[in-house]
Amino acid sequence: MSEILIVSGTGTDVGKTIVTAAIAANVIGAGKSVSVVKPGQTGVTGEAPSDLAVVAALTSAIDGAADRLLLHEYGRYEPPLAPATAARISGQPPLVLADVVASIQGLTSDFIVVEGAGGLLVKYSDEPVWTIADLARELKAEVLLVVASGLGTLHHTAATLEALATRGLTTPGLVIGQWPTEPSLAEKTNVVDLQDLGAPLVGAIPAQAGRSGEFAHIAATSLHPLLGGTFDEAHFTHTHTQELNR
Ligand SMILES: Nc1ncnc2c1ncn2[C@@H]1O[C@H](COP(=O)(O)OP(=O)(O)OP(=O)(O)O)[C@@H](O)[C@H]1O
Ligand SMILES: [Mg+2]
Repeated sequence: MSEILIVSGTGTDVGKTIVTAAIAANVIGAGKSVSVVKPGQTGVTGEAPSDLAVVAALTSAIDGAADRLLLHEYGRYEPPLAPATAARISGQPPLVLADVVASIQGLTSDFIVVEGAGGLLVKYSDEPVWTIADLARELKAEVLLVVASGLGTLHHTAATLEALATRGLTTPGLVIGQWPTEPSLAEKTNVVDLQDLGAPLVGAIPAQAGRSGEFAHIAATSLHPLLGGTFDEAHFTHTHTQELNR
């Protein structure tokens, strides 16, 4: 059976798509096939590309991507809202959890990465309610949490970890979706305080990653070996906190 990882996070715009693309890049780089799934895509207009289009663009220069990267989207809604809300106000049917589970279980790639919409508890359907946390439970998959770097992330991350634990779900850890070139005091201290919340830091993607032509290199160096890279939590922590009086 394929290995499945759910990529969720503390909210929208935290960098889930960039992290998803980086994981896919590492899998392709290791010579394996990867399916990237975005069950419900909202907010796709003329100007805004879909998340899968971003994944395809970021990984396009990697050898083997054309053959080993497969993209799957099961529902698309124009309003830039949570999937359940977008379905309701556009008059389209919401996604059905059992259908999404069956579709993902039918995939045959070596590795499957599923990117949620927004944060962990965002609804895909109002009746019955289900979220990406329910999908993780059904698939018996772990939930990687992408988090922001700055002020406010400690509460959002703690609350999301609590929500995971309440549901009996586990995480391989946290990835900072966008780590700035010149981190602020809050960002530097967050490196330590995030790790105090009880999940390991398994990556930090530099802020210029989305624009860089060297995405394969960035993916490899910004993610932990668990995610196919060489990121070292202790080294990252030391680099960014050594001058702080802790
Ligand atoms: N490491 C990064 N380098 C450059 N740009 C980034 C990085 N992380 C995020 N961004 C930018 O920030 C924006 C939000 O990132 P992204 O689309 O990955 O968030 P998301 O969590 O997937 O959001 P959504 O909930 O809409 O799926 C995008 O425009 C993206 O290009
Ligand atoms: Mg996204």
